[in-house]
Amino acid sequence: MDLVRHYLDYNSTSPLSQSVKSWLVSGDVFFANPSSQHHLGKLSRKSINQVTEAILKTFSLVPITHKILFHSGASEAFSSFAYSFGVWSKQSKKKLLICYSDLDHPAVTSQVNKSWDENVLFLRLEQNQDFTYNDDKNLAEILRFKSDYPDLIVLYHHLWVHNEVGSVASLENLKKFKAIQDLFIHVDSVQAPGKIPDWKVLSVGDIFTFSAHKFGALKGVGFSIYSSSLVLLPFITGGGQQALRSGTENAMGVKSIELALNDLALIDFKINFSRKARLEELLSKELSGIGAVLSSDSKISNSNTIYFYFHRISSDVALALFDLNGLMISAGSACSSGAAKPSAVLMHKGLSAYAKNGLRLSLPFNLNEAELSDIENKLKIIFNKIRETNF
Ligand SMILES: Cc1ncc(COP(=O)(O)O)c(C=O)c1O
Repeated sequence: MDLVRHYLDYNSTSPLSQSVKSWLVSGDVFFANPSSQHHLGKLSRKSINQVTEAILKTFSLVPITHKILFHSGASEAFSSFAYSFGVWSKQSKKKLLICYSDLDHPAVTSQVNKSWDENVLFLRLEQNQDFTYNDDKNLAEILRFKSDYPDLIVLYHHLWVHNEVGSVASLENLKKFKAIQDLFIHVDSVQAPGKIPDWKVLSVGDIFTFSAHKFGALKGVGFSIYSSSLVLLPFITGGGQQALRSGTENAMGVKSIELALNDLALIDFKINFSRKARLEELLSKELSGIGAVLSSDSKISNSNTIYFYFHRISSDVALALFDLNGLMISAGSACSSGAAKPSAVLMHKGLSAYAKNGLRLSLPFNLNEAELSDIENKLKIIFNKIRETNF
């Protein structure tokens, strides 16, 4: 009999949502260029406009206060917005301070190594052992920069839901930063939809970036919601299709966003939290003496992510073992190349001896009881094998 396999790598990318699948099968898709002036082009344009309205409505926002930029995903968005702030500060002869954390996704941390003009400064934000931000310390540091450069512009990155450990950093805590003049907050919202109950509440922030493939839409498309008062400059130039981003718009990808977002309404968070807790408990028990679960160290956690490590098994070896036994999980950062590299999360916890042993299990939006039981059985089998081989 074929082995039943479970895909437990939803933070890396999710399968297509049911509505997206049905829509693709129907064949009634938007292929025409939305800039074309014929009937089909106008249908594509109409669809993009309608999805724009639907997204704003999903987040209870209105076009007067907020705009939407469609792009290829969060990696593009972080480069584009940072570039825009870099050019703006240079043109206005002001310093730009980019704030980030070592625990951010590489889409953010990689900005530091780009060749910026000398007007760009960086501040590494501090995070506590429970993955919360050390707000008092970070605020004091920014104010110190502000006193050195009174007309400083600040681009502050905030990771809402951590892709590896699933910790949730509340947006409400950002209020004290918003009080600083010319400080703009870019919220990495990639792992929020469908994974925390209040993912639609964009309470504090100037830019919120989402990757559609993380919640059931097509790959290669994402969107950022940004405050209309922001003056932004394009990173990708050309035909000027979207004022902020040139290039033929992805009408089909954009439509898939609306369908997938709607499907998230079917999620029962109470059930998801309790199923995650069951697996976390089982893993903690099985790992006793040979590893540990790390995700439970965070004060507030999402509904689908469990991060753990072994003392003596590297993540690439463990991944193969899990895969052979029907559990498709992941190691390290959600979108890394697959090679085992030291985990920023384990380093942050002072667990550098195990830094290449991190593993992440990220659950589906709608895991059912039968699937959960099968996953539990498979975990027990895997751990028995590990004990037998005396790892
Ligand atoms: C928190 C977070 N931010 C940014 C990204 C980058 O998204 P993308 O690869 O879709 O550009 C990811 C991808 O895993 C992520 O998890």
